[in-house]
Amino acid sequence: MLSPKYHVFVCTSCRINGTQKGFCHSKGSVDLVQRFMEEIDDKDLTSDVMVTNTGCFGICDKGPVVVIYPEGTWYGNVTEDDVETIVEKHLAEGEKVKELLI
Ligand code: FES
Repeated sequence: MLSPKYHVFVCTSCRINGTQKGFCHSKGSVDLVQRFMEEIDDKDLTSDVMVTNTGCFGICDKGPVVVIYPEGTWYGNVTEDDVETIVEKHLAEGEKVKELLI
């Protein structure tokens, strides 16, 4: 996959030294990464979507934060239950999940 259709960035509060420590991490964002991978696999979208964990986006009070490119869509307060909705609506159908936009 040289150029995925979508690139999903999930803040896991990664620090420069490699540790994960911060607001999004404390609210279970590492589990969101795993959930995205499972849902993307279930929907047979693995050839179109890349998922990457990241450091802080600077809006911790809205975390866990998920950003999707190429649109540059920012989602906040994302829960594990929201992941299925994001994958179904945004990644499979190209529709933003309005209630999660920040
Ligand atoms: S720790 Fe996730 S936005 Fe700051």
